[in-house]
Amino acid sequence: MKSIQDVFEANKKKAEESKATNKKGKKVFNPETGNLMVEAPQVETPQVEDTPETVNAKLILMLKNAFAEEMLAYYQYLILEHFTGMLPVEQDKDYTKLVKSVVAKFKTNAEDELRDHAYWILGKLNDMGADCTSIENPSLLNQFATHKYICPTDTNNLMNVIEQVAQTERDAIETYTALVAFTEEGDKDINKKMKSILKDEEKHLKEMEDFMEKIKEYRNKLNTTEEKKK
Ligand SMILES: [Fe+2]
Ligand SMILES: [Fe+2]
Repeated sequence: MKSIQDVFEANKKKAEESKATNKKGKKVFNPETGNLMVEAPQVETPQVEDTPETVNAKLILMLKNAFAEEMLAYYQYLILEHFTGMLPVEQDKDYTKLVKSVVAKFKTNAEDELRDHAYWILGKLNDMGADCTSIENPSLLNQFATHKYICPTDTNNLMNVIEQVAQTERDAIETYTALVAFTEEGDKDINKKMKSILKDEEKHLKEMEDFMEKIKEYRNKLNTTEEKKK
């Protein structure tokens, strides 16, 4: 003869199996009473609807993140504008010219990041009455940024330098693609500027990719010359 505990355990198992297939408030087995009962349908947690206030708060957060990333991008360009060198093997006239054109580009791109992008975003945050204490302290910028600062690892290796800058530009493209989408139905002025910054970041990335191609061409030429000498 089954004990009460055995019956209870069997009932509990049936109830669990019944619950697993219950999606629409069907009758399920109640282990306490041994009867079938109607259980409330399983309802997914409703999404909290966006209000103008929550949308505005999210936009402010996204703009603060973009501002932090602009400052870090500017800083990376500033450092590389001054410290990018070249490997001894590459010290010839053509390569020196290439390094100079890369450094000149770093300088103009740094201006875009700081004087245009970062300035505009900070001005907008100010107009929106945003609390900017989280971005007032420069030591917190990297913590605040979604895409972290990429610290130059080898300033004498031009290819490495450009690859790191290209990654920063890819990160910026990700940030502004999200901002363009987020503001599509909202503030026209912000949306227009986000689209314009996104274009700049795409241009910056293209420039870095073109430099990478030139370095590859140069290295191939160098290898061919070396081969001929042998
Ligand atoms: Fe930028
Ligand atoms: Fe950029």
